[in-house]
Formats: sequence, structure tokens, C-alpha cells
Amino acid sequence: MSLDQTSLLARDHFPQGEVWLVGAGPGDPGLLTLRAVQALAQADLILHDSLASRAVLRHARPGAEIIAVGKRKGAAPVPQARINQRLVEGARAGLRVLRLKGGDPFVFGRGAEEARACQAAGIAWRVIPGVSAGMAAPAAAGIALTQRGVAQAVTFITAHDEAGDLPGLDWAALPGTIAAFMALSRLDELALRLIAAGRSAATPVAVIASATLAGQVTLRSTLGACSLAVRRAVLPGPALVVIGDVAAMELATPMPAAAARRHA
Ligand SMILES: C[S@@+](CC[C@H](N)C(=O)[O-])C[C@H]1O[C@@H](n2cnc3c(N)ncnc32)[C@H](O)[C@@H]1O
Repeated sequence: MSLDQTSLLARDHFPQGEVWLVGAGPGDPGLLTLRAVQALAQADLILHDSLASRAVLRHARPGAEIIAVGKRKGAAPVPQARINQRLVEGARAGLRVLRLKGGDPFVFGRGAEEARACQAAGIAWRVIPGVSAGMAAPAAAGIALTQRGVAQAVTFITAHDEAGDLPGLDWAALPGTIAAFMALSRLDELALRLIAAGRSAATPVAVIASATLAGQVTLRSTLGACSLAVRRAVLPGPALVVIGDVAAMELATPMPAAAARRHA
């Protein structure tokens, strides 16, 4: 083994009494970072989102306490304040607390709120970035978000503000390809806003559901027709909506989906 490989695999030390906010990636455990795997192997308490797959949690240390705090069907979501409190209490009890979040903790993941709660309580915290669905889902569907001469910018947006509404963005000013998170239930409104702001109803749209997981599905449509198409289709799991010319340009060799299937 070369020196570089040795240092790559060397364990990051996870001190007791710290909180680490760790990105779990989009679902395929092959997209976890080495640092995330090392942290999972050392944590005493793991609080995870519903988007963190079981295959990812297999890296947890045997004996670690694992608690689901994400939104689950039929169950009331654990309030953010309660999650913050558990992080702080766990660290104060001297545990290595790992907060496992889907994708990247700081991309529409409330990571900043949890980091601030730790900071306010005087708890040391650290973030381990993850592969965001914003990048992984298009790649898994063979869509390049930026392409020379086609899309010089990419804009990540959420379709849900704090109140659950479409956020008050300047819709006419969003440049390049739009990658919309949490957009399925607001697709109608989102499409209408973008069309009213000047995007053509013929703009290509790709909806990528359960990206990198066994049930991955890509639905292709247009801005004018996508909301009806989504309502007619039964899409599995979370989905990312890609809006822009690149959405119609599927590359021949997407990510190794077979690997994702094996791990799911
Ligand atoms: C609360 S946000 C969390 C985003 C996450 N922090 C990230 O960086 O990917 C949840 C949204 O991420 C997107 N998402 C997460 N995992 C996904 C997946 N495997 N396939 C498609 N979209 C996904 C969906 O838009 C979902 O509604």
C-alpha cells in the first residue's frame, strides 16, 4: 500500500463529547466519503434522517445507539428543537454524537441550525460534507448540469420555505439549469411561476426519483407538462427536478447504477 493510500484510510479521531454533522450522500453507500465511514465506525450515538439508507448505517460501530429522527410516513416528525437538544445532551454526556444527514448537511439540510445549537451550548462540532442529491441525481440519470454552450450556471433551489410554501425568489433572475429540491408537491406552482417569469413551457424537465438507489426512475417532460406527468406517474422516494435544456440531453454512460442496486 502506498503512503497516499495509508493516509487516506487512516482514521480521523472522533473525540468524546463532540457532535459531527455527517453527509450520508444520496443513498448508495458507495457514495459515502471515507471520512463519513470512519466517523460511523467510531460514533456512540447516531441520529439519522429517513433518507439515510440502511446500507449506509451498516457502517455504524456495533453497539452504537442508532435513532431515527427523520420524517416517516404516518409518524409525527421529530421537532428540530428536540433534535438539537438530543445532540447537545449526548455530547454533554461524553458521547461521540454523529448526526447523519441525507446528501450534504449544509444543502437544504438544516445543518446550520444544528451547528448553531452546538455552538450556543459550547459543544465542539464539525461537518463532514456529503455528495448532495443536487449533483448525484443528475449524474445518475446521465445529465450534466452544466455544459459549454448550453448551461453556464446551475441554481439549486428548494420548493419549500419554512412555512412549506414556494420561496419568494426572483424567478426571472435564476440563471442556467435549475435543480429543485422538495419540488414534487409544488411542481404545478413552480412550473407556472417559471413560465410566468419567462421560461418557455417547452423547457425540458427531468424528474429523477430515488436516485442512486435500486428503484431509480427518471421521468422526462417539459415545464408545461411536467406537473401532470408527475401526477400520472407513481414515483418512488424523494425526487430532484432538473429544469433546463440539459434535462433533454441524456449522456450514454451514466453512473454505474448496477453498483447502486447491489448496495441498496
Ligand atoms: C431535505 S432535502 C435534503 C437534501 C440533502 N441535504 C442533499 O444535499 O441532497 C430532501 C430532498 O433532497 C432530494 N433528494 C434527496 N435524496 C434524493 C435521492 N436519492 N434522489 C432524488 N432526490 C433526492 C429530494 O428533492 C428531497 O426532497
